[in-house]
Amino acid sequence: MSDADEDAPVGPDLGVEGVAIEEIPEGGLLVGRFEGASVVLIRKDGSVHALGGKCTHYGGPLGQGLFDGELLHCPWHHACFRPETGEAVGAPAVDAVPSFVVEHQGGRVFIRGVKKEQITRAPIPSVPRSVLIIGGGAAGFAAAETLRREGYQGPVTIVSADDAAPYDRPNLSKDYLAGTAQSEWMPLRPPGWYGDARIELLLGARVAAVTPAKREVQLDDGRSLEYGALLLAAGASPVRLDIPGADLPHVHYLRAMRDCDSIIDHAKRTKRAVVVGASFIGLEVAASLVARGLDVQVVAPEAIPMERVLGSELGGFVRTLHEERGVRFHLGQTMGEIGERSVTLQSGTRLEADLVVLGVGVRPDVELAEEAGLALDRGVLVDEYLRTSAEGVWAAGDIARWPDRFSGERIRVEHWVVAERQGQTAARNILGRLEAFRAAPFFWSQHYDVTINYVGYASSWDEANVVGNIADRDCLVSYRKAGKIRAVATIFRDLLSLHAQAAMDRGDAQALDAVVMAMVS
Ligand SMILES: Cc1cc2nc3c(=O)[nH]c(=O)nc-3n(C[C@H](O)[C@H](O)[C@H](O)COP(=O)(O)OP(=O)(O)OC[C@H]3O[C@@H](n4cnc5c(N)ncnc54)[C@H](O)[C@@H]3O)c2cc1C
Ligand code: FES
Repeated sequence: MSDADEDAPVGPDLGVEGVAIEEIPEGGLLVGRFEGASVVLIRKDGSVHALGGKCTHYGGPLGQGLFDGELLHCPWHHACFRPETGEAVGAPAVDAVPSFVVEHQGGRVFIRGVKKEQITRAPIPSVPRSVLIIGGGAAGFAAAETLRREGYQGPVTIVSADDAAPYDRPNLSKDYLAGTAQSEWMPLRPPGWYGDARIELLLGARVAAVTPAKREVQLDDGRSLEYGALLLAAGASPVRLDIPGADLPHVHYLRAMRDCDSIIDHAKRTKRAVVVGASFIGLEVAASLVARGLDVQVVAPEAIPMERVLGSELGGFVRTLHEERGVRFHLGQTMGEIGERSVTLQSGTRLEADLVVLGVGVRPDVELAEEAGLALDRGVLVDEYLRTSAEGVWAAGDIARWPDRFSGERIRVEHWVVAERQGQTAARNILGRLEAFRAAPFFWSQHYDVTINYVGYASSWDEANVVGNIADRDCLVSYRKAGKIRAVATIFRDLLSLHAQAAMDRGDAQALDAVVMAMVS
């Protein structure tokens, strides 16, 4: 991720001087200004389109993104926008960017205000009598929003065990926990939006059973709800550590907003924290607690943080980043027990701690699917259209294992953008659009001022090749198995990360090799 505040508008003033049409490359983009704001001109199939230059997710500079011939992609977290309308068609952005009226005059292109037209859509091929969504997280929210955006008028209900309306879960370990995000950033939509969109949101409500043969779910308060189509999006829950003291009040897991709020509450009253687990979430929590002025120690069984996902060199770099901020690591160590004021490791080492956060992984919540008799394989099995083995039931997000085109494997990942995009695709398929889920997995992880972007899926690899310089925070790491690149991690090479995503989305291994070669040269 690059710094947002390079975002003082640059380039020609498109309301006043315009730009010569030849300066906008066919299939490419040009950055300009309009009424003091940044604008991106895109030339597609001979026509010029103009969009607002700031991503509606977290303000990423779209002019530094990629136009792949069809969509404009944000460099920060890979949201995609349609050039003709500005519509956000790929998460994590939900809202459209402004789309402007373009005028041609004497070989020059000018912008003349914001477009007013409504987006028109093809008729819905299949209209279920109602849609029920289990889970008010990334996938569940994205599905409900997409159903309405696609023009579905029937009843939509989200049943969520969470007591908060859908929110930005990744931020729970980042700026929200660090105290640098405003709480208004967290909800994915303001409270009134659900009523306006006629989406019934049942919060603090848990589905206890699903009966696909009757198209019915039972809630744990005894109520039954019928559905025409069902989306399972129950996500995952933290793995619980079965050691003495794990249920003490100063010991926390982090999945939901309420977990985060109680960590924050504790962090305000304490000085010393131990984080158990050197995964993405564990280390992001460590960074956020450091930002709150706590003394933080990390305990984990692996020798190098995140080595299994990122490899030893990038993992070692992440460790250094944390050590430079004062985090102390106890690696190759497992927990023994947790006391009121300390934790004791299996080795006998005692660490003082009045706040303990356990981040030792998650398990997909597949019990409902299992009891309903759906096909499972370390997750709920779905086809490329995200259909489960039961008629009228789709699954998306952390629980779903789908056939990934690029790796050729059936995979299940725990990534925000994947869950949201699967929610969007599942919604379109519930309406009969028959859209295969083809997006390569993408996630980002933030450690202080460094963001790592990762595209693809490599559960194991033969070589991890570093191009550039990790210590200089300018690198691309490719993970190759049986000669084929399976995944690419980058630091401050956002455009290359987008090119890698585009190549994988197309299933084009040669283009992916070319992305790595571009960094080499
Ligand atoms: C702290 C944290 C930080 C993260 N950071 C990142 C990141 O930086 N990048 C990234 O890519 N990913 C990140 N992730 C992972 C990402 O948030 C998940 O992959 C994503 O939320 C999965 O979406 P989902 O819809 O499948 O599940 P969730 O978002 O977990 O939503 C599941 C919902 O289902 C509800 N539910 C469960 N069971 C039932 C039931 N029986 N009845 C009713 N409701 C039920 C839950 O209450 C919840 O509302 C992070 C996760 C956490 C916890
Ligand atoms: S800022 Fe654009 S996708 Fe996040």
